[in-house]
Amino acid sequence: MGSLNRTKLSVNINKLATIRNARGGNNPDIVDYARKIESYGADGITVHPRPDQRHVRFEDLYLLKKTVKTEFNIEGYPSREFMDLVLDIRPQQVTLVPDAPDVLTSNNGWDTMQQLPFLKDIIAELKSQNIRTSIFLNPDPRMIASAVLTGTDRIELYTESYASGFDKDRENAIRPYIETAREAVEAGLVLNAGHDLDLKNLRYFQEHIAGLLEVSIGHALICDALEFGMANTVRMYLNQLGTSNQ
Ligand code: PXP
Repeated sequence: MGSLNRTKLSVNINKLATIRNARGGNNPDIVDYARKIESYGADGITVHPRPDQRHVRFEDLYLLKKTVKTEFNIEGYPSREFMDLVLDIRPQQVTLVPDAPDVLTSNNGWDTMQQLPFLKDIIAELKSQNIRTSIFLNPDPRMIASAVLTGTDRIELYTESYASGFDKDRENAIRPYIETAREAVEAGLVLNAGHDLDLKNLRYFQEHIAGLLEVSIGHALICDALEFGMANTVRMYLNQLGTSNQ
């Protein structure tokens, strides 16, 4: 029990694809890993296709869509190419990120005021195919009113500044997230979060953000799996989120 009560864990498997791509074969087999990660109790699988396909490849997404039995979440910048891809695959959730094609990893949230007309159109297109949407946001309460106007179902709080401030002053680091989350929930938005969450900072975040429904975690979780094994690692992260459903 517990999977309904606790914050859900979606595992980002991009890094597994990066390891696979380093040698050109199919080791590790990321589709097989997605299946295993679900069997260890994760609530979802996330991927972030980049335009140059340097991590997951577009063909991976079709195989994952057939395999993933939990929630399949595809993140990315809504270029026309990305939109055609996700409209074809139809995952349960698409998370829109305003990242340039060549960034190492996502490094900013949307300016929902400036990008309102663009986001509105994109989100309407996704919702016309019954795809749930989430938009990546900095912890800034001023972005919430226009986030609501975009029509999105959810927001994903960009947790980099929380993670980088955690060791020095966790109360200060989480403050803007508490305020943004409160505004978002009051406005009827559902809350996701992600980026740089790890075994050290996850529980505190989850305990202080009321209404946090889902986190997506990649880098730290895959690194921890090198030491603890994937099955143990997934359970360790689930334990940070409340009751494990194992
Ligand atoms: N959320 C978004 C929008 C991301 O781009 C990423 C990284 O791909 C994550 C969450 C996960 O971040 P991390 O790999 O640091 O856990």
